[in-house]
Amino acid sequence: MVLPKAELHLHIEGTLEPELAFELAERNGVELPWAGTEALREAYRFQDLQSFLNLYYELMAVLRTERDFEDLADAYLARAAAQGVRHAEIFFDPQAHIARGVGMGTVVEGLWRALGRSRETHGVSTRLIMCFLRDESAESAMATLEEAKPYLDRITGVGLDSAEVGHPPAKFRAVYEAAAALGLRRVAHAGEEGPPAYIAEALDVLGVERIDHGLRCMEDPALVERLVRERVPLTLCPLSNVRLRAVDTLADHPLPAMLDAGLMCTVNSDDPAYFGGYAGDNFDAVQRVLGLSQERLRELARNSFLASFLEDEEELRAR
Ligand code: HPA
Ligand code: ZN
Repeated sequence: MVLPKAELHLHIEGTLEPELAFELAERNGVELPWAGTEALREAYRFQDLQSFLNLYYELMAVLRTERDFEDLADAYLARAAAQGVRHAEIFFDPQAHIARGVGMGTVVEGLWRALGRSRETHGVSTRLIMCFLRDESAESAMATLEEAKPYLDRITGVGLDSAEVGHPPAKFRAVYEAAAALGLRRVAHAGEEGPPAYIAEALDVLGVERIDHGLRCMEDPALVERLVRERVPLTLCPLSNVRLRAVDTLADHPLPAMLDAGLMCTVNSDDPAYFGGYAGDNFDAVQRVLGLSQERLRELARNSFLASFLEDEEELRAR
């Protein structure tokens, strides 16, 4: 049986499969530097987060119209539903689009065309989380929040992504304060490539409710103790960690040790088109390679709903 689950760490731009990328390139008259889908897939050999991000931002050039974002989200939701995802909290990166002349309205309205009807079309409820690019300035993040104001009925929260090292959470204190004042929920990537101190800083300075990745907490026993005590959810992405070389192989992934330590872990896909698998594929991989028991898998699935931003009791029970 496919386990019902919520996906809490998913970049919609990272669901762009090579086939759709070429279709959109053709539709929009965008020239891609790869001969075809196979050549593009072969480019997916990453040394680290930055080498992935370079390709991830380059390929976004094919996303231009509302319909493109709608098609992207629809394709993801169909795949996610087929793997047991009943609820998805979806990141998007507005600054990466605005910099290319594609406005906030195009992105949000386009995504919403798919998300707004997703319960009916795919049986998947959704939330939208707007991420700030941490390698851009704090002023740019604040301007992005300002641009999002007309769309706040569609945006549940804010997040922080892109190149981590050298861009500590505290850089974004003011914009997270402003987001909180607007009633937005808060999450942040921390402890993927960056040090454990960034995890504590995201909690203390940005007031986040979940940590995206958080893998490197395992280097700091006092931090692990705190995360367990405060039941801070971690949105882990095992296949992403292998592809971006955060771990050598999946067999080396600390997920079993993290669960044993009492951490509130969830399993997610991050950028599934690039990292070789959607949410169910990540569950299958950790079961197969790490030998997680059925009980552990059910715990991970249960955690995903508990850590979600689903608020309505009815809605939670219906999952
Ligand atoms: N980490 C940081 N930024 C990102 C990621 C990630 O895994 N995916 C897309 N943007
Ligand atoms: Zn991510």
